[in-house]
Amino acid sequence: MGIQFDSQNKVFHLKAKNTSYVMQVLQDKYLTHLYWGQRVKAYNHSNQLQFVDRGFSGNPYPSKDRTFSLDTLPQEYPQYGNTDFRKPSYQIQLKNGSTVSDLAYQSHTIRKGKPPLIGLPATYVENENEAETLEIVMKDSVSGLKVILQYTVFEQFNVITRSTRFVNEGTEPLKLLSALSMSIDFQDAEFDFLHLHGAHVKERHIERNSLRHGIQSIESTRGASSHQHNPFVALLRKGTNENTGEVYAFNFVYSGNFLAQAEVDQFRNTRVTVGINPFDFSWKLEPGETFQTPEVVLVYSSEGLGDMSRTFHDLYRTRLCRGIFREKERPILINNWEATYFDFNAEKILDIASNSRELGIELFVLDDGWFGKRNDDTSSLGDWFVNREKLPNNLDDLAHKVKDLGIEFGLWFEPEMISRDSDLYREHPDWCLHVPNRHGSESRNQLVLDFSRDDVCEEITRRVYDILSTVPISYVKWDMNRHMTEIGSSALPWDRQRETAHRYMLGLYKVMETITSSFPHILFESCSGGGGRFDPGMLYYMPQTWTSDNTDAISRLKIQYGTSLVYPISSMGAHVSDVPNHQVHRFTSLEIRGHTAMSGNFGYELDLTKLSEKEKRTVKQQVVMYKEIRRLIQFGNLYRLLSPFEGNETAWLFLNKEKTEAIVFYFRVLAEPNTPFSLLKLKGVDSNLKYRVLETNQIYGGDELAYVGLSIPAELKGDFQSYVWRLKAI
Ligand code: DGJ
Repeated sequence: MGIQFDSQNKVFHLKAKNTSYVMQVLQDKYLTHLYWGQRVKAYNHSNQLQFVDRGFSGNPYPSKDRTFSLDTLPQEYPQYGNTDFRKPSYQIQLKNGSTVSDLAYQSHTIRKGKPPLIGLPATYVENENEAETLEIVMKDSVSGLKVILQYTVFEQFNVITRSTRFVNEGTEPLKLLSALSMSIDFQDAEFDFLHLHGAHVKERHIERNSLRHGIQSIESTRGASSHQHNPFVALLRKGTNENTGEVYAFNFVYSGNFLAQAEVDQFRNTRVTVGINPFDFSWKLEPGETFQTPEVVLVYSSEGLGDMSRTFHDLYRTRLCRGIFREKERPILINNWEATYFDFNAEKILDIASNSRELGIELFVLDDGWFGKRNDDTSSLGDWFVNREKLPNNLDDLAHKVKDLGIEFGLWFEPEMISRDSDLYREHPDWCLHVPNRHGSESRNQLVLDFSRDDVCEEITRRVYDILSTVPISYVKWDMNRHMTEIGSSALPWDRQRETAHRYMLGLYKVMETITSSFPHILFESCSGGGGRFDPGMLYYMPQTWTSDNTDAISRLKIQYGTSLVYPISSMGAHVSDVPNHQVHRFTSLEIRGHTAMSGNFGYELDLTKLSEKEKRTVKQQVVMYKEIRRLIQFGNLYRLLSPFEGNETAWLFLNKEKTEAIVFYFRVLAEPNTPFSLLKLKGVDSNLKYRVLETNQIYGGDELAYVGLSIPAELKGDFQSYVWRLKAI
């Protein structure tokens, strides 16, 4: 690991675990990209840049060299206006209206460790020797704009992180019209573009297309990272699959509007840029002011998507998530949302809680409806005071009673929102995002609080803080149930209105930092209509996310499979719910619902008091089983075996780090007549070890499990079947 600088040729060679990343300063000015991929001991320009005079690719300095054009040069942080006609990584506007800039390399520093990004979520190190950081300083002499490119390489991971800092060292204000976090130019286009798209109750479905000429992009303009596109893209070499082939992956550590795009140019070069969406964004930078972009995590894998995922999982579990729950087994919870919706009282809650306790469940979560006058979704957001009609003895009394049953108590909040019908709105109608003289659109009958304002953030922090410091709460579900419209803030001048959405995110991050650090014993789970903000930015503050409002076991196969591409299993909330399922109205067995939910952070979300004795026995067994396997699930290595996006079957395997224990889940959606007897070949198991299958007591070598495979039992009959094997090395 380390960062080397060859001062004679001005070449930077960044080495992460098994990865090399090489750049060079050309003509003492331009920062070019030369290589990213499998690690090489030394880089000696075997892929020497070649220069030819290409028609219509202009030259920044024509008198010197007609073959030199930024249009053809592979760059690290390209600009607009001087011969590069592809999309730039940033753009400024000066007081005279001009939008051109011209960066030149100035200096660089290399240091151990990784500095935090002030006010933003980011990966971190615990020891200076875990990483090295390079900062390259570039300057535009006309405006005085300084651009600092930050690169960190990790010793233990095939990971490089990038972000960019802008400093106005000029004498006049300037405007950032766009400020992406990173850009990289590959010198070919033989890639597939893979990303995770979706919708509410249908998050993170995998899509893979061949790159073509022009731009392929995903983005959010919704004020949240969104259900529709996750801030993740990967370029895959043709033929790359789960277990082999090269992957270049990019994940944006941010929870708001983003853009991730790949542009294939006329010469079949590919430019990837990732950052805050320039659409409806700008940022005024006064002399002396700084703008820091969020971070992008770049993962390289030469062993397919599976290895890429395990890199993301390990990095995020250990060097993005923080706090005591990072290493702790997560509790099995029961949430009352799908059991009661808004229709509950203290008696009903205690009834569900005491039933859960008998079944071995460890945490009761009281969802929406406990505050203000909230009996449906038309009122009370912002009024974080207990609803005495439903809970006449207050929240404290209920929480103590739940705890007295021997089970922890958790609570739902939606701190970023305000209902028109709320005391908070009546007092502060200007505290929501809004635009003067325009009607404020509603979504789920609510408006978005203006978290770009300090006073709003402080008041909401105080209200949430008051409850968390007076009621014995050990878990919080932090929800957010609409996207932003009429984005504007009454606290900002006209020429800063386009800063609102990003200032909102900075405000939100500050609120979450204050609250989560004030209550380190509380486990926080973020949520946004399910998985609408399942991104690394949120995971920095809250180590779990509610994966989707869709709790159907079959829909969840795709949702959880897609989510697992990037996000660790310990971050994925997954609950057994009632049948017919409330979102897709499907009937599935309690067994398959259990197996799907056990493949994540396990819990229940149904009225346990209505279960038959037989069903309760099954739940009890599931709870016992999950307690035995949860360390393996939450902290083991994931190997995906069969993809729900490719066929009727899904399978995945969790293996502990020592490779001595594994659990394999197999799911078959529809029964089909006269199909061949299938075999499931395992991955990751140690071919030198022997494993006992706990269900059958049979013993097989790891090599046999991997190369020959396990038979899928023929007795699985009918639709929606699942099967589990637990393996222990002997
Ligand atoms: C959306 C969440 O995703 C649900 O789980 C539930 O908490 C509701 N909001 C409550 O309004």
